[in-house]
Amino acid sequence: MIYVFPTETVYGIGASVWDKEAIKRIFKIKGRPADNPLIVHISRIEHLEEIAWEVPEVAWKLIERYWPGPLTLVLKKHPALPYEVTGGRDTVAVRMPAHPVALLLIEKEGPIAAPSANLSGRPSITTYEHAVEELGDKVDVILKGKTTQGIESTVISLVGRPRLLRPGPITYEELKELLPELVVAKSKEAEAPGMKYPHYQPTHKLYLLTRPDGDFPEVKGAIWRKDIPLPRKLEKVFYYQNERELAQNLYYWIRELDKIGDMVVLGVPEKGLGFSIMNRLKKAAHAILQ
Ligand code: TXA
Ligand code: MG
Repeated sequence: MIYVFPTETVYGIGASVWDKEAIKRIFKIKGRPADNPLIVHISRIEHLEEIAWEVPEVAWKLIERYWPGPLTLVLKKHPALPYEVTGGRDTVAVRMPAHPVALLLIEKEGPIAAPSANLSGRPSITTYEHAVEELGDKVDVILKGKTTQGIESTVISLVGRPRLLRPGPITYEELKELLPELVVAKSKEAEAPGMKYPHYQPTHKLYLLTRPDGDFPEVKGAIWRKDIPLPRKLEKVFYYQNERELAQNLYYWIRELDKIGDMVVLGVPEKGLGFSIMNRLKKAAHAILQ
């Protein structure tokens, strides 16, 4: 059985880690390359013993502080865990989501392997309506619930030297305090195997503007900072007051603007949550304008 379900970050599309056929169907539905592994979602610590192998001391420190929550840990995989879940790797990404609907589903089904619910390459999904638009004719069950973070979990590898593979709601700066040896993985390492593929892209063009006084081509819509005047009148504008609000609404706004045409997004400084947001926007962008 395949479920589309909300988490505190974005919607996921998942199945029991033991149901290899359903897992294969998820790759097919999404159009996801088979070498891009899925995240295993658990609802209780005992599940970890079935999924991971030789969990290091440092993982427990992070788990205690951040689970349930938007932190994914890459660990050695349990020998019994199907390779379909890990894209053929000997490591597995695992997290405990902080969302009552997700936790209830996992309590019923056991550990759930789930990528983000968007079709491969497209922006993630953060509302029930967009989940229905994207997957309504492809899956049987879409569970409803509110996402609060709005961007995907932070991913850290703890196999070898601790590395940040994907920045997210829990910031690099914050993690560095607990884990001083943490480094940002070079993107050319393509360690989070998903990072080498196109990501988060709307159908229309998204221009990422790094300076509010910079010029941008003709567009229909914008995502813009509330206290900065927009230089032109546009058909539809979503305003954010701070980075948290931008993260929470980013994918919803991009998908809504994509319904009318090209868009411009005013970026944010690349620190804290801003670093995670810009990581997504740079990949979503058709062009980055200074
Ligand atoms: O917030 C989230 O993480 C959401 C919700 C649904 O939990 N899920 C999500 O899944 O964003 P997905 O598949 O879109 O992103 C998972 C990322 C990919 O970049 C993938 O390559 C990486 O995690 N990943 C998964 N398993 C890995 C592994 N064994 N080693 C390295 N990276 C891994
Ligand atoms: Mg994704």
